Amino acid sequence: MAQALIEALNLEVHYGGIAAVKGISFAVEEGEMVCLIGANGAGKTSTLKALARMIPARGEIHYGKERIDGTPGYDLIRKGLALVPEGRGIFARLTVAENLSMGAYHRNDTADIAVDLDKIYVMLPRLKERAAQVAGTLSGGEQQMLAIGRALMGRPKLLLLDEPSMGLAPLMVEKVFEVVRDVAAQGMTVLLVEQNAKLALELCSRGYVMESGSITVADTAANLLADERVRAAYLGE
Ligand SMILES: Nc1ncnc2c1ncn2[C@@H]1O[C@H](COP(=O)(O)OP(=O)(O)O)[C@@H](O)[C@H]1O
Ligand SMILES: [Mg+2]
Repeated sequence: MAQALIEALNLEVHYGGIAAVKGISFAVEEGEMVCLIGANGAGKTSTLKALARMIPARGEIHYGKERIDGTPGYDLIRKGLALVPEGRGIFARLTVAENLSMGAYHRNDTADIAVDLDKIYVMLPRLKERAAQVAGTLSGGEQQMLAIGRALMGRPKLLLLDEPSMGLAPLMVEKVFEVVRDVAAQGMTVLLVEQNAKLALELCSRGYVMESGSITVADTAANLLADERVRAAYLGE
């Protein structure tokens, strides 16, 4: 295997007295697309927020050769670690174009930013058509694409995606997943959190199953798709 781009060791997240993440360990290799599946409340969002250093956590987090569990979240954006949060977190009153440029706020390579913006408009033509539209008036699927596009404007190495399909109509889910597939095909490392386990496993090479704050199964996506317990609990079979 290639070197791990991100690795968590005994990661724990507590909210007051509640343990939401109970000492999990996992890794994503460079160029891999890995998913974290599990029911509502399993601790998936807490895990991603802990990796992005948006909430306090215990345990070790390694990013490339660096240990980052003491690094502030804003420094990680500079280092290429981008989280597309659950619920998207776009700036509703700003236009599509303004939201995209916010994604590059920490960069000063102006010419390359323009090149990246063009690439994103090619990949997401819907955003180009709506460049001047206020983001709050976009459909849910368009907002999700904007959130992904904004993260890509930061030229991330690692993209953490939290429930990109949430609340979207089936056709829009397909489109958003196509974008995620495109992004992964360009060689970006992706950690995808999804309640839609079937879609996630069809897209990823490996997966972790999270239950009540612990990782209970770790396997290839093909094995997880064939696993009786996974099928019964997460694939509605
Ligand atoms: N800010 C918070 N304060 C207190 N408890 C929280 C908070 N955020 C999440 N939790 C709790 O932590 C657990 C894991 O939540 P979360 O990480 O959002 O799970 P998932 O993303 O898998 O649905 C849940 O029991 C949830 O209620
Ligand atoms: Mg969540």
